[in-house]
Amino acid sequence: MKIAITGKGGVGKTTLSASLAWLFAEEGKKVLAIDADPDANLAAAFGVPAQELSRVRPIAEMTSLIEERTGSRPGAPGGVYRLNPKVDDIPEEFGLRLGKNKNIILLATGKSKEAASGCYCPENVLLRRLLKHLVTERDEVVVLDMEAGIEHLTRGTAQGVDAFIVVVEPGQRSIQTARSVREMAKGLGVKKVYAVANKVKSESDAAFIEEEMDIPLLGSISYDPAIVEADKQGQAPFMLSGGLMREVSRIKEKIV
Ligand SMILES: Nc1ncnc2c1ncn2[C@@H]1O[C@H](COP(=O)(O)OP(=O)(O)OP(=O)(O)O)[C@@H](O)[C@H]1O
Ligand SMILES: [Mg+2]
Repeated sequence: MKIAITGKGGVGKTTLSASLAWLFAEEGKKVLAIDADPDANLAAAFGVPAQELSRVRPIAEMTSLIEERTGSRPGAPGGVYRLNPKVDDIPEEFGLRLGKNKNIILLATGKSKEAASGCYCPENVLLRRLLKHLVTERDEVVVLDMEAGIEHLTRGTAQGVDAFIVVVEPGQRSIQTARSVREMAKGLGVKKVYAVANKVKSESDAAFIEEEMDIPLLGSISYDPAIVEADKQGQAPFMLSGGLMREVSRIKEKIV
């Protein structure tokens, strides 16, 4: 099962990604939780203490690794480098193990500065190869915490994802973002795009999303002040919010 979580900034992608990954792990599954958002903070959502956050270094910033694997230094376009660098040991080597049974591996990919230009720089080659590997060649459950832009994914990677989940909150803006994600996903040949409503405070919020949303809804997550409190305290939201656990559990059942 490979799941990519996307959506507008601040809608709750990271909260959902961490909770889903945790629930799969509780079931005994091996999980790869991938922070593919350049503004990485998935580790904090697992409650990794501030002093340990530096252990989750984004792969895009690992200059020596990039050079070792591709044969070329980052920032050196036009060089000669391997197009098929070895990546299969990266999660075990550079990921942080989490969960009661240490069956979650958390890995941050980061994003190369040149990614937007789509250049064939060494760091891009390594990141693309890594993402493709994670999505198409691994046995574990993979949960990708992404930004809203998914256009940098290659078709091969996007098509390997079983479900794209776009998180929306009650409001036109996140729904508009969800639509543009769906269009991008279509363009990449993605099979399944679903939505999850978050920060739902009332019946009327739920009704609003149901009415406006033209992407199939997997479920919704209520607004819970305990989730905000968890963020303030640097704790995992799923540890402080029983409601979040229950609602994400239902969403997870629908995905599988
Ligand atoms: N259901 C909820 N109830 C209350 N607060 C929530 C809920 N879901 C998320 N939040 C809060 O909203 C903020 C944004 O959540 P989160 O970081 O998960 O979103 P994101 O989409 O990953 O954001 P970004 O785009 O910055 O990566 C956090 O402070 C989080 O605690
Ligand atoms: Mg996030």
